[in-house]
Amino acid sequence: METKPFLRALAGQACSPPPIWLMRQAGRYLPEYQSLRAKASSFLEFCYTPVLAAEATLQPVRRFGFDAAILFSDILVIPDALGQKLTFETSGGPRLDPIATPRDFGRLKTEIDRRRLSPILETVSQVKANLPAEIALIGFCGAPWTVACYMIAGRSSPDQTQTRLFAYREREAFQQLIGVLVDASAEYLSAQIEAGADAVQIFDTWAGILPAAEFERWCIDPIVALIARLRLRHKNARIVGFPKSSHKLGEYAARAKIDAVGLDSSVDPYWARKSFDSNLALQGNLDPLALMAGGEALESGVRTILSAFKGRPHIFNLGHGILPQTPISHVERLLELVRKAPIQ
Ligand code: CP3
Repeated sequence: METKPFLRALAGQACSPPPIWLMRQAGRYLPEYQSLRAKASSFLEFCYTPVLAAEATLQPVRRFGFDAAILFSDILVIPDALGQKLTFETSGGPRLDPIATPRDFGRLKTEIDRRRLSPILETVSQVKANLPAEIALIGFCGAPWTVACYMIAGRSSPDQTQTRLFAYREREAFQQLIGVLVDASAEYLSAQIEAGADAVQIFDTWAGILPAAEFERWCIDPIVALIARLRLRHKNARIVGFPKSSHKLGEYAARAKIDAVGLDSSVDPYWARKSFDSNLALQGNLDPLALMAGGEALESGVRTILSAFKGRPHIFNLGHGILPQTPISHVERLLELVRKAPIQ
């Protein structure tokens, strides 16, 4: 019998209460994270220092008793390992040398520098050795489309105009970039599983910004290829897909061989309940702002989600990352509500 509730849900079992973890659960809303963060000279340095990253991974699990720990790292270590210079500004925003032309892309490596990523795999092993048996360890990467958005623009963008234009104008070069990211991500996730990750999540934060045909080409096809590659090495890998804000969740879930689909907060949980295969675990989808607000917004938000997903495999989470201004007492209340509330 599987001892980890998170993995039971991924295997298609309904658990009561559902397992819970939060995207970005390690981070700035925790004072212990702030003091740990002050020990590293930069955010990237922090990610590449196993003792610090392992401690950041464990902090929220220790404080709140979540059912899963998520590796403390970032999706942009892949471009870094492909030779694209990466820094994080003090405000937190990433900066990469942008890819303005196919020639800029030509200057990057086509395979990841494994030595660059080895401290991250060391973090995975260290966390694994220190986690209680019933807590799962989640590894992750960004989906090729989302990582490409940061590689092309070189920074955060509200609408990904540059990347969408590049994908239309330089179709062949963009297809090549996506191909490199598919291979790199499959290899990176395999290595995380070999180092001890129990499951992996693929974050496609910018999936929702594409027209249907472009979504198929740049999000679904690459995810299908990535997962096929990963399953060649790890047939039973447990995989969560998170195509944030996509209107084609049904097609995504049908084609990608995933064990759970992450839902952002705009998805009606009652619609999700009747629209997805009853064996597919659903993960989500409390509004991070309802958690920040607390009170009735939090109570009723949790109630709705618990009753909509009652009796089917569900992993409680937010619809996107926890916000830095979130009071710790609200996270404590959330756990209390999810774990103790009698579900009507
Ligand atoms: O969830 C966790 O606790 C694990 C760690 C994690 C981080 N980033 C740490 C981080 C994970 C899973 C990510 C994923 C990530 N990174 C995504 C996909 C998920 C999402 O949030 O949409 C994206 C798009 C990135 C890229 C990225 N990293 C951006 C745009 C930023 C700046 C914005 C921000 O939130 O500050 C980061 C920085 C970052 N990644 C921080 C953390 C804790 C903040 C930096 C700091 O603490 O100094």
